[in-house]
Amino acid sequence: MNPLEPRFWGNMAAICLDLHQTGFSVIKGYDSNVDIPLASSLMDDWWQWFVAGGDDRYLFDPETQAGWFPVEKSEKAKGRTEVDLKEYYHYFPHAGAPPHLEEKTRKHFDQMLRFSNELLGWLGSFVSANVDDDVPDLVELSEGSPYNLLRVLYYPPIPSGVEDLDRLPITRAAEHTDINMLTFITAPTTKGLQVFSEEHGWMDVPVDEDHIIVNVGDALDLATRGFLKSARHRVVIPDGDERFKSRVSMPFFLHARPDAILSGEITAQEHLRKRLRELGVAS
Ligand SMILES: [Fe+2]
Repeated sequence: MNPLEPRFWGNMAAICLDLHQTGFSVIKGYDSNVDIPLASSLMDDWWQWFVAGGDDRYLFDPETQAGWFPVEKSEKAKGRTEVDLKEYYHYFPHAGAPPHLEEKTRKHFDQMLRFSNELLGWLGSFVSANVDDDVPDLVELSEGSPYNLLRVLYYPPIPSGVEDLDRLPITRAAEHTDINMLTFITAPTTKGLQVFSEEHGWMDVPVDEDHIIVNVGDALDLATRGFLKSARHRVVIPDGDERFKSRVSMPFFLHARPDAILSGEITAQEHLRKRLRELGVAS
């Protein structure tokens, strides 16, 4: 099966198999679950907020990781020295968003949480039917996690006049795996996301407003003893005129509860702290 062939929501066997084989799946046909016009208009609203220069009143809190991370504070992928050319806002319901963005952002967050829990339920059945080891109940692992997060990312345009990208010490997002259990990207509109498969190498993820892209992160890989694979991915600077356009993306990160045991003695909280230190955004 081609892992980047979009699967219909409801064809859970194909989606689960993708997440087992490559850690990655592209979903379509989920209309009643996630309001895509809402997601698109929310992206526009946030795009305007970033283009206007953000707002210092919402600078991130290093302890909770909530709020705005300007470009100069942006994370770097594990093992890299250069900072990714991006900025972002971490939205947690308990910390909120700028007031004019709050209502829509919260609505989208709640829809994504329901959607991700439904998929997690299916994945739980799929994993327990296929793995002999004692794998924790996946829905329980994440239930009520305060770490669940909507990250609104803004990738500024590459400054015009910069032709030789290979000599430029910037990427949009260097190769990495995600820390959390599952990541969802709604309404992708600009090319650049690539995912790695052992069989095909780096593959361009198709871009369509009606797609939801889902990938497995390290926490779910750990909890399922590697049965669901954490997907290596990156965001490259596209060729041609697309590079001079800014890009907004709104991944939703489904996390485990802080006290949930992922594997052996490792709790989700310890796993997260360790990874945030590696990213250079926590001490
Ligand atoms: Fe990622």
